[in-house]
Amino acid sequence: MSTILRAIQGDITKMPVDAIVNAANSSLLGGGGVDGAIHRAAGPDLVHECRLLGGCKTGQAKLTKGYRLPAKHIIHTVGPVWRGGTNGEPELLTACYRSSVELAAKHGSVSLAFPSISTGIYGYPIELAANLAVSTVRTAVEQFPGIQEVIFCCFSQADLAVYEAILKQ
Ligand code: AR6
Repeated sequence: MSTILRAIQGDITKMPVDAIVNAANSSLLGGGGVDGAIHRAAGPDLVHECRLLGGCKTGQAKLTKGYRLPAKHIIHTVGPVWRGGTNGEPELLTACYRSSVELAAKHGSVSLAFPSISTGIYGYPIELAANLAVSTVRTAVEQFPGIQEVIFCCFSQADLAVYEAILKQ
């Protein structure tokens, strides 16, 4: 059975999936954007667990419990800051999606939700990032049939339109 990929507009902290992905920074100690929203919603136990992880390099991913979230786990990954696109940004963003899918599969996740990593504060152009997100996840899940559903959780209607157009291709 092949994995279902879909996009929705919504708040990722509310998603009743096995794992949500956080667009974190390398400290893993919280920040603005979706990272701030996840830490607020999960509660203070999350930062306590994160302190034990020793940070995370760009392109890598680390897993914690979901605490007060409906999601069982949070996969924290660190996207690249956009610096024009010729400084390894696509490779690093690909690594974020790939390592997040691998970690989710390793922990038995059946359903997984991603925010649009790097396209907020880190400035990655949405069309480029969304194309890369969809193609990387499509390829990665072929190796992990236990993952049945991947949701691209878009915060804005405009981002949702971009993802929907790509998913139709
Ligand atoms: N649910 C889903 N998506 C959201 C939510 C939410 N509750 N809130 C924001 N977004 P960003 P980045 C969207 O800036 O670009 C933090 O300070 C947002 O509209 O959160 O990877 C970290 O600590 C955008 O589409 O992440 C890092 O320092 C997407 O999430 C830095 O920001 C990603 O935007 C990471 O920057």
